[in-house]
Amino acid sequence: MKHTDIKSILTDPSFIGKKTVICGWVRTSRDSKNVAFIELNDGTSLKHLQIVIDKADFEDISSFMPGGTALKVVGTVVKGMVNNAVEVNAEEISVLGVSPADYPLQKKRTTLEFLRTMPHLRVRTNTFNAVFRVRSIAAEAIHRFFQTRNYVYINTPLLTGSDCEGAGEMFKVTTIGYSDQYKNEEEYYADDFFGRRAGLSVSGQLEGEVAAMGLGKIYTFGPSFRAEKSNTQRHVAEFWHVEPEIAFAELDDIIEVAQSMIKYIISDVLEKCPDEIDFFSRFFEKGLREKLNNILENEFAVLDYTEAVEILKKADADFKFPVEWGCDLQTEHERYITEKVYNKPVFIINYPKQIKSFYMKQNPDGKTVAATDLLVPGIGEIIGGSQREEDLDKLLAAMKERGMNLDEYKDYIDLRKFGSVPHGGFGLGFERVIMYMTGVENIRDVILYPRTVGNIR
Ligand code: 4AD
Ligand code: MG
Repeated sequence: MKHTDIKSILTDPSFIGKKTVICGWVRTSRDSKNVAFIELNDGTSLKHLQIVIDKADFEDISSFMPGGTALKVVGTVVKGMVNNAVEVNAEEISVLGVSPADYPLQKKRTTLEFLRTMPHLRVRTNTFNAVFRVRSIAAEAIHRFFQTRNYVYINTPLLTGSDCEGAGEMFKVTTIGYSDQYKNEEEYYADDFFGRRAGLSVSGQLEGEVAAMGLGKIYTFGPSFRAEKSNTQRHVAEFWHVEPEIAFAELDDIIEVAQSMIKYIISDVLEKCPDEIDFFSRFFEKGLREKLNNILENEFAVLDYTEAVEILKKADADFKFPVEWGCDLQTEHERYITEKVYNKPVFIINYPKQIKSFYMKQNPDGKTVAATDLLVPGIGEIIGGSQREEDLDKLLAAMKERGMNLDEYKDYIDLRKFGSVPHGGFGLGFERVIMYMTGVENIRDVILYPRTVGNIR
């Protein structure tokens, strides 16, 4: 179906005066005595294209007007009366798909909660048009950031036999339902598809490390799965995860890459999505553009976990969870640090080893590990990473302390035997950075089909 993108018509003046074919869905329409107007959107742009209908030229326009109707319009592009905006004087209109009166998006503004009940239709609203374009531009920026710095893009397996984070949040993968014919779990798993326990990967890091130990610098960009019961504004059971892994690198290097990457994504989105950022500044977060510009101009803060605890203990705030050295920082603590103390992104470093994963590099103090979380105002953690333990004996000790089954991690342990080097990486929650850049507060509104506890379709 030969036609021109609405984005091209709106941005390329050479279309003015030309006869063009446009397709799209009716967003709104207005009928007056001699003329009628339709705001048409084909998804290529946040802005709609106004179609002007001279009623004398058409027998009956009523089938063109309902919201949600899909139209093909042939007409001439002209400069409109208002703001020099381009519009199209319709000559022929055909209805590609009708939209009866029960089309749910008739009202101009609806709530995000209401739209969550119809993920298949909400993409036709301005909010989701803008969210998904920012998401797309950001994804491409991430690839370009790594590709232009000699990283190799790796696809790590989603079906896995080892739990990376060890937090017990893995979805099980099985082809046989539970049956009492098995005497114990071992017997049951032995009979299953893989002959052992398997699950959906919570992180591609362990395989990412394998790749980095030959390719030097790698990144993954794919889904991770967490069977977390936490029903919050920032958790989904299936999220998109960006995980670089870098050989010959220490914690400082990891922090440097994370900061440059975040700035690179933001700078690209500011440049390529000006209409979307204006939209989000108007309807979602006042001052969003300034916030993003500030990020580009300033260094992120770096704060030791131990100092963070001191700050939180002295804080004039009513925390639900008390703070002591050794405790995991809760969202309320993370937000206090990044919003109240710094009002900018903060890398917290050197966490107590007992609250972090087995693979993290043990610091000489014997108490902490070379880990970092990047916290941002409004959200809290968007990145978790660390230098990895490259010493075989220390790694084995940490695994045994946690009662881990070493057989499941044979490849990973082998990497420390043959040419082991200092290395590290991090995981960025893609949806979380989209929330940060758009001001959209609920993670369910930045992913096409959010999967959460009790909710899948
Ligand atoms: O902090 P996490 O658990 O770290 C890892 O998985 C490491 N293996 C990463 C690495 O070093 N390669 O997860 C990393 C990030 C979090 O900071 C968060 O942004 C995101 O992944 N994340 C989630 N996003 C949405 N919903 C969830 N349930 C998430 N769990 C983690
Ligand atoms: Mg984390």
